[in-house]
Amino acid sequence: MQYELIRKVLERRDWGGAARVAGWVRTRRDSKGGFSFLELNDGSCLANLQVVAETALANYQTEVLKLFPGSSVAVEGVLAPSPGAGQLLELRATSVTVFGFCEPTAYPLQKGRVSFEVLREIGHLRPRTNTFGAMSRIRNTLAMATHSFFQEHDFLYVHTPIITGNDCEGAGAMFQVTTLDVGNPPRRPDGAVDYAADFFGRRVNLTVSGQLNGETHACALGRIYTFGPTFRAENSNTRRHLAEFWMIEPEIAFADLADDAALAEAFLRHLFQQLLARCRSDLEFFQKQLDPALIGRLETLAVAPFLRMSYTEAVAALRSSGQTFEFPVQWGCDLQAEHEKYLTEVLAKGPVIVTDYPREIKAFYMRQNADGRTVAAMDVLLPEVGEIIGGSQREDRLDVLEARMRGCGLNPELYSWYLDLRRFGSVPHAGFGLGFERLVQFCTGLANIRDVIPFPRTPGNAAF
Ligand code: 4AD
Ligand code: MG
Repeated sequence: MQYELIRKVLERRDWGGAARVAGWVRTRRDSKGGFSFLELNDGSCLANLQVVAETALANYQTEVLKLFPGSSVAVEGVLAPSPGAGQLLELRATSVTVFGFCEPTAYPLQKGRVSFEVLREIGHLRPRTNTFGAMSRIRNTLAMATHSFFQEHDFLYVHTPIITGNDCEGAGAMFQVTTLDVGNPPRRPDGAVDYAADFFGRRVNLTVSGQLNGETHACALGRIYTFGPTFRAENSNTRRHLAEFWMIEPEIAFADLADDAALAEAFLRHLFQQLLARCRSDLEFFQKQLDPALIGRLETLAVAPFLRMSYTEAVAALRSSGQTFEFPVQWGCDLQAEHEKYLTEVLAKGPVIVTDYPREIKAFYMRQNADGRTVAAMDVLLPEVGEIIGGSQREDRLDVLEARMRGCGLNPELYSWYLDLRRFGSVPHAGFGLGFERLVQFCTGLANIRDVIPFPRTPGNAAF
């Protein structure tokens, strides 16, 4: 590489040493003393490098004075301690080479804050803001920490398909994939669309979860995880739902629900520890801008045990809370955001793992408990974002699973390969799915999930 990262340059103290950097100008200030300050950012860290450009530069009048926010340059110069407040060092330019000028009246990212709503309209430029730079670095660190955690714990990374004929969650709401002419599809004699003529010879959709495929590998290789995009066509326009989001799904053989919960807790703890160790200045930025309690909360979670309670206990706690909820609580109802909020923010003042939900509100693959009315499910709830993880021990008894599928209106014949895992050497196994964007929300304090993924897909919006 020809250029040194600004993050590295800012660590140097060898005054008089040469440095060569490249980046985008954030601001230019012209001093009366006959020189200009350029604040240069290259995305390697939150901080800018202060460049001092003197009038003696050959292109000072013709080019440097035309460098407005957003323009791109390479600078060669000499490091010096900075006499000004706010930075320790500066780069005294011996040459400034312009890559691209930036028209000041047209460029939307001038000095000063632009609202998150407006930034969503300029998704191609928002990576140039402090907020998106910091979010992107945090997202990257959490992704790498995911791999380091599972790799250190002997999990295999398995790539599950994006196009699939299965419906893992059995909840409808899927995006269909087809190469048929939707305006004029081939039809069977009874008038129904003839999917035998479609690309895959059958009806397929974008995956809602890699779990069912993941189970095949856990039931052969022991411990696996997936980390990939998942898709849900629910029409939910909330600040924590996307139509395309990334999910991390570990699956472990010879494991029960308690093992699953312990894994989830250890995983989250590792993520918070890595983030605190690697992204200090980005976290400090979000703490200052959005959430004064951010770092303290991550530090607590990095060491404190998570509260565990059964669904039945959670319902009892909600009913005796004295709170009035928009959705009244009774045994059998699904927990709503307001209920999760009470459990995490008021009752536990931290994360809660709720286990053993009523069978009727959970997916077909969850293992039925001996009480005949609950399943070995768990949700991990976090303050602010609510459900971040959903998981369970899997139903490993063939007859019980088949009966449950029929009860859910699913045809077991369409899941014969999944049932084979129970026919041929069935083992107790468990797993969970963590919504990656909700994790990034929790770790940044960004309130809207549209602001923690590079290009959000939500109902009515697939721009960029
Ligand atoms: O609870 P869910 O639906 O669980 C599953 O899909 C299981 N198959 C996972 C498993 O056991 N392997 O989804 C898991 C997580 C949720 O807890 C939530 O964090 C996130 O995925 N999630 C979403 N995130 C953003 N937008 C959406 N529309 C989401 N739906 C679920
Ligand atoms: Mg769930």
